[in-house]
Amino acid sequence: MKKFVSVCHIGAGRIGFTLEFDKKRLKPASHIGMWKKNKQVKLSGICEKKKIKKIFLKKIPKETNIYKNYIKMIKTEKPDIVSIATWKDTHFEITSKCIDLGIKIIVLEKPLANTLKQAKFLIKKIKKNNVKVLVNHRRRFDKEIIKLRKLIKSGIIGEIIQATSYYVYGILTTGTHLVDTLRMLLNDVAGDVQSVTGFKNKFGLYHPKDDENIDGVLTFKNNLKATIQSLNIKMYDNFDIYIYGTKGKILITGIGRSGLIYKIIKSPEHKGFDELDQKSKKMFGPKPRNQFGLLANNAIDCLLKKNVKPLCDDKDSFIDMMIIDALLKSSNQKNRTIKLKIKN
Ligand SMILES: NC(=O)c1ccc[n+]([C@@H]2O[C@H](COP(=O)([O-])OP(=O)(O)OC[C@H]3O[C@@H](n4cnc5c(N)ncnc54)[C@H](O)[C@@H]3O)[C@@H](O)[C@H]2O)c1
Repeated sequence: MKKFVSVCHIGAGRIGFTLEFDKKRLKPASHIGMWKKNKQVKLSGICEKKKIKKIFLKKIPKETNIYKNYIKMIKTEKPDIVSIATWKDTHFEITSKCIDLGIKIIVLEKPLANTLKQAKFLIKKIKKNNVKVLVNHRRRFDKEIIKLRKLIKSGIIGEIIQATSYYVYGILTTGTHLVDTLRMLLNDVAGDVQSVTGFKNKFGLYHPKDDENIDGVLTFKNNLKATIQSLNIKMYDNFDIYIYGTKGKILITGIGRSGLIYKIIKSPEHKGFDELDQKSKKMFGPKPRNQFGLLANNAIDCLLKKNVKPLCDDKDSFIDMMIIDALLKSSNQKNRTIKLKIKN
Protein backbone atom coordinates (compact mmCIF):
# COMPACT_ATOMS: atom_id res chain seq x y z
CA MET A 1 0.00 0.00 0.00
CA LYS A 2 1.13 3.57 -0.77
CA LYS A 3 2.40 5.54 2.23
CA PHE A 4 0.61 8.73 1.21
CA VAL A 5 -2.33 10.06 -0.76
CA SER A 6 -1.23 11.94 -3.87
CA VAL A 7 -3.12 15.17 -4.57
CA CYS A 8 -3.05 17.63 -7.47
CA HIS A 9 -4.65 21.06 -7.27
CA ILE A 10 -5.94 23.30 -10.10
CA GLY A 11 -6.33 27.11 -9.69
CA ALA A 12 -4.07 28.96 -7.24
CA GLY A 13 -6.18 32.13 -6.87
CA ARG A 14 -7.90 33.36 -3.68
CA ILE A 15 -9.67 30.26 -2.35
CA GLY A 16 -7.15 28.00 -4.08
CA PHE A 17 -4.15 29.56 -2.34
CA THR A 18 -3.79 33.26 -1.56
CA LEU A 19 -6.35 33.47 1.29
CA GLU A 20 -3.73 31.43 3.16
CA PHE A 21 -1.83 34.73 3.51
CA ASP A 22 -4.74 36.58 5.16
CA LYS A 23 -3.32 37.02 8.67
CA LYS A 24 -6.76 37.03 10.33
CA ARG A 25 -7.99 33.73 8.90
CA LEU A 26 -7.82 30.41 10.73
CA LYS A 27 -5.40 28.14 8.86
CA PRO A 28 -5.73 26.25 6.62
CA ALA A 29 -7.74 28.87 4.71
CA SER A 30 -7.30 27.54 1.16
CA HIS A 31 -7.16 24.32 -0.85
CA ILE A 32 -3.38 24.31 -1.14
CA GLY A 33 -3.13 25.16 2.57
CA MET A 34 -5.34 22.21 3.55
CA TRP A 35 -3.35 19.74 1.48
CA LYS A 36 -0.02 21.10 2.74
CA LYS A 37 -1.16 20.70 6.33
CA ASN A 38 -2.51 17.15 5.99
CA LYS A 39 0.06 14.56 7.06
CA GLN A 40 -1.41 11.80 4.88
CA VAL A 41 -1.06 13.88 1.72
CA LYS A 42 1.71 14.49 -0.77
CA LEU A 43 0.84 17.58 -2.83
CA SER A 44 2.28 16.27 -6.10
CA GLY A 45 1.23 19.08 -8.44
CA ILE A 46 -0.31 22.51 -8.68
CA CYS A 47 -1.67 23.91 -11.94
CA GLU A 48 -2.14 27.67 -12.35
CA LYS A 49 -2.65 29.41 -15.68
CA LYS A 50 -1.18 32.72 -14.54
CA LYS A 51 2.31 33.39 -13.23
CA ILE A 52 2.36 32.69 -9.49
CA LYS A 53 3.89 35.62 -7.57
CA LYS A 54 7.28 34.98 -5.97
CA ILE A 55 6.03 35.59 -2.42
CA PHE A 56 3.43 32.84 -2.87
CA LEU A 57 5.75 30.52 -4.81
CA LYS A 58 8.09 30.41 -1.80
CA LYS A 59 5.35 28.72 0.26
CA ILE A 60 4.84 25.85 -2.17
CA PRO A 61 6.61 22.64 -1.03
CA LYS A 62 9.80 21.74 -2.98
CA GLU A 63 8.37 18.30 -3.87
CA THR A 64 5.36 19.92 -5.61
CA ASN A 65 5.63 20.33 -9.37
CA ILE A 66 4.05 23.42 -10.94
CA TYR A 67 2.12 23.16 -14.22
CA LYS A 68 0.24 25.47 -16.58
CA ASN A 69 -1.79 22.66 -18.17
CA TYR A 70 -3.91 20.52 -15.83
CA ILE A 71 -4.29 17.65 -18.29
CA LYS A 72 -0.51 17.32 -18.52
CA MET A 73 -0.29 17.51 -14.72
CA ILE A 74 -2.83 14.71 -14.17
CA LYS A 75 -1.29 12.49 -16.85
CA THR A 76 2.19 12.98 -15.32
CA GLU A 77 1.40 12.85 -11.60
CA LYS A 78 -1.48 10.31 -11.68
CA PRO A 79 -2.95 11.68 -8.42
CA ASP A 80 -5.53 9.94 -6.17
CA ILE A 81 -7.42 13.19 -5.58
CA VAL A 82 -7.79 16.38 -7.63
CA SER A 83 -9.07 19.66 -6.19
CA ILE A 84 -10.41 22.44 -8.38
CA ALA A 85 -10.68 26.13 -7.38
CA THR A 86 -10.90 27.81 -10.77
CA TRP A 87 -13.57 30.25 -12.05
CA LYS A 88 -17.13 28.92 -11.95
CA ASP A 89 -17.54 28.79 -15.74
CA THR A 90 -14.62 26.31 -15.94
CA HIS A 91 -15.87 23.81 -13.31
CA PHE A 92 -17.91 21.76 -15.77
CA GLU A 93 -15.15 21.28 -18.33
CA ILE A 94 -12.36 20.60 -15.82
CA THR A 95 -14.42 18.19 -13.68
CA SER A 96 -15.61 16.33 -16.76
CA LYS A 97 -12.03 16.01 -18.05
CA CYS A 98 -10.75 14.82 -14.66
CA ILE A 99 -13.36 12.04 -14.76
CA ASP A 100 -12.22 11.09 -18.30
CA LEU A 101 -8.67 10.92 -16.96
CA GLY A 102 -9.76 8.38 -14.33
CA ILE A 103 -9.85 10.57 -11.19
CA LYS A 104 -12.26 9.08 -8.62
CA ILE A 105 -12.19 11.75 -5.89
CA ILE A 106 -12.66 15.41 -6.82
CA VAL A 107 -12.86 18.35 -4.43
CA LEU A 108 -14.64 21.14 -6.27
CA GLU A 109 -15.34 24.74 -5.40
CA LYS A 110 -19.00 25.70 -5.67
CA PRO A 111 -20.92 25.68 -7.94
CA LEU A 112 -20.92 22.26 -9.62
CA ALA A 113 -21.36 23.82 -13.07
CA ASN A 114 -22.38 27.02 -14.80
CA THR A 115 -25.80 25.86 -16.05
CA LEU A 116 -28.39 23.32 -14.94
CA LYS A 117 -27.94 21.45 -18.22
CA GLN A 118 -24.21 21.04 -17.57
CA ALA A 119 -24.90 20.04 -13.95
CA LYS A 120 -27.38 17.32 -15.02
CA PHE A 121 -24.84 15.95 -17.51
CA LEU A 122 -22.11 15.91 -14.85
CA ILE A 123 -24.28 14.18 -12.24
CA LYS A 124 -24.93 11.33 -14.68
CA LYS A 125 -21.24 11.08 -15.56
CA ILE A 126 -20.20 11.12 -11.88
CA LYS A 127 -22.60 8.25 -11.10
CA LYS A 128 -21.67 6.21 -14.17
CA ASN A 129 -17.96 6.45 -13.39
CA ASN A 130 -18.32 5.81 -9.66
CA VAL A 131 -16.72 9.13 -8.79
CA LYS A 132 -17.15 11.00 -5.49
CA VAL A 133 -17.32 14.80 -5.82
CA LEU A 134 -17.07 16.97 -2.70
CA VAL A 135 -18.43 20.48 -3.29
CA ASN A 136 -17.03 23.09 -0.91
CA HIS A 137 -20.08 24.62 0.73
CA ARG A 138 -17.98 25.31 3.75
CA ARG A 139 -20.60 25.09 6.50
CA ARG A 140 -21.23 21.45 5.56
CA PHE A 141 -17.67 20.86 6.79
CA ASP A 142 -18.14 22.74 10.08
CA LYS A 143 -18.36 20.36 13.03
CA GLU A 144 -20.53 22.75 15.05
CA ILE A 145 -23.04 23.30 12.23
CA ILE A 146 -23.14 19.52 11.73
CA LYS A 147 -23.89 19.13 15.46
CA LEU A 148 -26.55 21.85 15.27
CA ARG A 149 -28.33 19.99 12.48
CA LYS A 150 -28.62 16.96 14.81
CA LEU A 151 -29.84 19.12 17.71
CA ILE A 152 -32.55 20.69 15.53
CA LYS A 153 -33.60 17.18 14.46
CA SER A 154 -33.72 16.08 18.11
CA GLY A 155 -36.16 18.93 18.86
CA ILE A 156 -33.94 21.25 20.91
CA ILE A 157 -36.31 24.16 20.09
CA GLY A 158 -39.34 22.00 19.38
CA GLU A 159 -41.03 22.00 16.00
CA ILE A 160 -39.49 24.51 13.57
CA ILE A 161 -42.11 27.01 12.44
CA GLN A 162 -40.23 29.95 10.83
CA ALA A 163 -36.74 30.78 9.54
CA THR A 164 -35.33 34.14 8.44
CA SER A 165 -31.86 34.68 7.06
CA TYR A 166 -29.48 37.21 5.52
CA TYR A 167 -26.58 37.30 3.06
CA VAL A 168 -24.50 39.83 1.12
CA TYR A 169 -22.90 40.17 -2.32
CA GLY A 170 -24.90 38.30 -4.95
CA ILE A 171 -27.29 35.36 -4.90
CA LEU A 172 -24.85 33.13 -6.83
CA THR A 173 -21.65 34.20 -5.08
CA THR A 174 -22.80 34.12 -1.44
CA GLY A 175 -26.56 33.52 -1.46
CA THR A 176 -25.81 29.98 -2.61
CA HIS A 177 -24.04 29.29 0.73
CA LEU A 178 -27.10 30.55 2.62
CA VAL A 179 -29.51 28.43 0.57
CA ASP A 180 -27.25 25.40 1.08
CA THR A 181 -26.92 25.97 4.86
CA LEU A 182 -30.70 26.37 5.26
CA ARG A 183 -31.24 23.11 3.36
CA MET A 184 -28.59 21.37 5.46
CA LEU A 185 -30.12 22.50 8.76
CA LEU A 186 -33.79 22.08 7.86
CA ASN A 187 -33.95 19.02 5.54
CA ASP A 188 -34.35 16.51 8.39
CA VAL A 189 -37.32 18.33 9.90
CA ALA A 190 -38.92 20.02 6.89
CA GLY A 191 -37.96 17.98 3.79
CA ASP A 192 -36.41 19.80 0.83
CA VAL A 193 -37.45 23.03 -0.87
CA GLN A 194 -40.63 22.59 -2.94
CA SER A 195 -41.23 26.12 -4.25
CA VAL A 196 -39.62 29.55 -4.27
CA THR A 197 -40.61 33.18 -4.75
CA GLY A 198 -37.92 35.71 -5.68
CA PHE A 199 -37.78 39.51 -5.48
CA LYS A 200 -35.13 41.85 -6.88
CA ASN A 201 -33.66 43.94 -4.10
CA LYS A 202 -34.19 47.58 -5.09
CA PHE A 203 -32.01 49.30 -2.47
CA GLY A 204 -28.89 49.53 -4.65
CA LEU A 205 -26.95 47.05 -2.51
CA TYR A 206 -23.46 46.29 -3.78
CA HIS A 207 -23.16 43.07 -5.82
CA PRO A 208 -20.91 41.51 -8.49
CA LYS A 209 -21.63 42.79 -12.03
CA ASP A 210 -23.21 39.56 -13.26
CA ASP A 211 -24.82 38.48 -9.99
CA GLU A 212 -27.78 40.34 -8.45
CA ASN A 213 -29.04 40.47 -4.87
CA ILE A 214 -32.29 38.53 -4.81
CA ASP A 215 -34.54 38.33 -1.75
CA GLY A 216 -36.85 35.36 -1.53
CA VAL A 217 -39.04 32.86 0.21
CA LEU A 218 -38.21 29.16 0.17
CA THR A 219 -41.12 26.85 0.99
CA PHE A 220 -40.08 23.43 2.27
CA LYS A 221 -41.99 20.16 1.83
CA ASN A 222 -43.79 20.44 5.20
CA ASN A 223 -44.79 24.03 4.29
CA LEU A 224 -42.09 25.65 6.48
CA LYS A 225 -41.11 29.04 5.02
CA ALA A 226 -37.58 30.40 5.16
CA THR A 227 -36.87 33.90 3.92
CA ILE A 228 -33.52 34.90 2.49
CA GLN A 229 -32.79 38.62 2.40
CA SER A 230 -29.79 40.55 1.12
CA LEU A 231 -27.77 43.28 2.85
CA ASN A 232 -24.91 45.52 1.72
CA ILE A 233 -21.37 44.10 1.98
CA LYS A 234 -20.04 47.68 1.67
CA MET A 235 -21.75 48.47 4.98
CA TYR A 236 -21.09 45.16 6.77
CA ASP A 237 -20.77 41.45 6.04
CA ASN A 238 -23.65 39.30 7.30
CA PHE A 239 -24.79 35.66 7.38
CA ASP A 240 -27.39 35.68 10.19
CA ILE A 241 -29.90 32.85 10.38
CA TYR A 242 -32.85 33.00 12.80
CA ILE A 243 -34.73 29.75 13.38
CA TYR A 244 -37.94 29.84 15.45
CA GLY A 245 -39.35 26.72 17.06
CA THR A 246 -42.26 25.97 19.38
CA LYS A 247 -39.83 25.80 22.33
CA GLY A 248 -37.37 28.62 21.56
CA LYS A 249 -35.17 30.32 19.01
CA ILE A 250 -31.71 29.67 17.55
CA LEU A 251 -29.59 32.47 16.07
CA ILE A 252 -26.54 31.70 13.97
CA THR A 253 -24.54 34.90 13.78
CA GLY A 254 -21.00 36.27 13.28
CA ILE A 255 -20.87 35.00 9.64
CA GLY A 256 -21.80 31.53 10.93
CA ARG A 257 -19.19 31.39 13.69
CA SER A 258 -21.55 31.66 16.70
CA GLY A 259 -24.71 29.79 17.63
CA LEU A 260 -27.03 31.15 20.33
CA ILE A 261 -30.16 29.64 21.84
CA TYR A 262 -33.03 31.60 23.40
CA LYS A 263 -35.44 29.82 25.73
CA ILE A 264 -39.03 30.76 26.59
CA ILE A 265 -39.60 32.71 29.82
CA LYS A 266 -42.59 34.21 31.65
CA SER A 267 -43.07 37.79 30.47
CA PRO A 268 -41.63 40.28 32.98
CA GLU A 269 -44.15 42.88 31.75
CA HIS A 270 -47.40 41.16 30.76
CA LYS A 271 -49.24 38.78 33.10
CA GLY A 272 -50.17 35.48 31.49
CA PHE A 273 -47.79 35.86 28.54
CA ASP A 274 -44.61 33.96 27.68
CA GLU A 275 -41.85 35.45 25.54
CA LEU A 276 -38.37 34.64 24.31
CA ASP A 277 -35.62 35.40 26.81
CA GLN A 278 -33.47 38.35 25.71
CA LYS A 279 -30.49 36.59 27.22
CA SER A 280 -29.10 33.83 25.06
CA LYS A 281 -27.05 30.74 25.94
CA LYS A 282 -24.00 30.07 23.80
CA MET A 283 -24.23 26.85 21.77
CA PHE A 284 -20.92 27.35 19.92
CA GLY A 285 -18.43 30.01 18.78
CA PRO A 286 -17.16 32.64 18.42
CA LYS A 287 -13.96 30.75 17.43
CA PRO A 288 -14.07 29.55 13.81
CA ARG A 289 -13.75 25.82 13.16
CA ASN A 290 -11.25 24.06 10.91
CA GLN A 291 -13.60 23.58 7.95
CA PHE A 292 -10.83 23.02 5.42
CA GLY A 293 -9.31 20.35 7.69
CA LEU A 294 -12.60 18.43 7.72
CA LEU A 295 -12.96 18.86 3.94
CA ALA A 296 -9.50 17.31 3.37
CA ASN A 297 -10.20 14.45 5.80
CA ASN A 298 -13.59 13.76 4.24
CA ALA A 299 -11.95 13.58 0.78
CA ILE A 300 -9.29 11.14 2.04
CA ASP A 301 -11.92 9.00 3.78
CA CYS A 302 -13.97 8.97 0.56
CA LEU A 303 -10.86 7.62 -1.19
CA LEU A 304 -9.85 5.02 1.39
CA LYS A 305 -13.22 3.90 2.81
CA LYS A 306 -15.93 2.44 0.62
CA ASN A 307 -18.89 3.52 2.74
CA VAL A 308 -17.86 7.12 3.35
CA LYS A 309 -19.82 9.74 1.40
CA PRO A 310 -19.01 13.40 0.71
CA LEU A 311 -20.49 15.72 3.37
CA CYS A 312 -21.62 17.90 0.44
CA ASP A 313 -21.87 16.30 -2.97
CA ASP A 314 -22.74 17.05 -6.60
CA LYS A 315 -26.48 16.55 -5.98
CA ASP A 316 -26.49 19.07 -3.11
CA SER A 317 -24.84 21.64 -5.34
CA PHE A 318 -27.27 20.84 -8.18
CA ILE A 319 -30.30 21.39 -5.91
CA ASP A 320 -28.81 24.70 -4.67
CA MET A 321 -28.38 25.70 -8.32
CA MET A 322 -32.02 24.75 -9.12
CA ILE A 323 -33.28 26.88 -6.22
CA ILE A 324 -31.22 29.90 -7.26
CA ASP A 325 -32.22 29.52 -10.90
CA ALA A 326 -35.90 29.49 -9.83
CA LEU A 327 -35.43 32.51 -7.52
CA LEU A 328 -33.94 34.47 -10.44
CA LYS A 329 -36.75 33.38 -12.78
CA SER A 330 -39.39 34.35 -10.24
CA SER A 331 -37.80 37.77 -9.69
CA ASN A 332 -37.96 38.34 -13.48
CA GLN A 333 -41.55 37.06 -13.81
CA LYS A 334 -43.48 39.38 -11.49
CA ASN A 335 -42.54 37.32 -8.43
CA ARG A 336 -44.61 34.31 -9.43
CA THR A 337 -44.09 31.30 -7.18
CA ILE A 338 -42.14 28.57 -8.95
CA LYS A 339 -42.55 24.90 -8.01
CA LEU A 340 -39.48 22.67 -7.96
CA LYS A 341 -39.28 18.94 -8.38
CA ILE A 342 -36.76 17.90 -5.74
CA LYS A 343 -36.97 14.34 -4.46
CA ASN A 344 -36.59 13.88 -0.70
N1 LIG B 1 -16.34 28.10 -0.79
C1 LIG B 1 -16.08 29.38 -0.57
O1 LIG B 1 -16.26 29.90 0.54
C2 LIG B 1 -15.53 30.20 -1.70
C3 LIG B 1 -14.88 31.42 -1.48
C4 LIG B 1 -14.33 32.11 -2.57
C5 LIG B 1 -14.48 31.59 -3.86
N2 LIG B 1 -15.15 30.43 -4.07
C6 LIG B 1 -15.32 29.84 -5.41
O2 LIG B 1 -14.03 29.40 -5.84
C7 LIG B 1 -13.86 29.62 -7.23
C8 LIG B 1 -12.62 30.49 -7.45
O3 LIG B 1 -12.81 31.75 -6.84
P1 LIG B 1 -11.57 32.68 -6.45
O4 LIG B 1 -12.16 33.84 -5.72
O5 LIG B 1 -10.49 31.90 -5.79
O6 LIG B 1 -11.09 33.15 -7.92
P2 LIG B 1 -9.66 33.63 -8.38
O7 LIG B 1 -9.85 34.35 -9.67
O8 LIG B 1 -8.96 34.33 -7.27
O9 LIG B 1 -8.88 32.27 -8.64
C9 LIG B 1 -9.14 31.39 -9.71
C10 LIG B 1 -7.80 30.95 -10.28
O10 LIG B 1 -8.00 29.86 -11.19
C11 LIG B 1 -7.06 30.01 -12.23
N3 LIG B 1 -7.53 29.24 -13.39
C12 LIG B 1 -8.67 29.40 -14.11
N4 LIG B 1 -8.76 28.45 -15.08
C13 LIG B 1 -7.66 27.66 -14.93
C14 LIG B 1 -7.19 26.52 -15.63
N5 LIG B 1 -7.87 25.98 -16.65
N6 LIG B 1 -6.02 25.98 -15.24
C15 LIG B 1 -5.31 26.52 -14.19
N7 LIG B 1 -5.71 27.60 -13.51
C16 LIG B 1 -6.87 28.16 -13.87
C17 LIG B 1 -7.01 31.51 -12.50
O11 LIG B 1 -5.86 31.88 -13.18
C18 LIG B 1 -7.08 32.06 -11.07
O12 LIG B 1 -5.79 32.26 -10.52
C19 LIG B 1 -15.16 30.23 -7.73
O13 LIG B 1 -15.97 29.21 -8.25
C20 LIG B 1 -15.80 30.82 -6.47
O14 LIG B 1 -17.22 30.82 -6.53
C21 LIG B 1 -15.66 29.74 -3.01
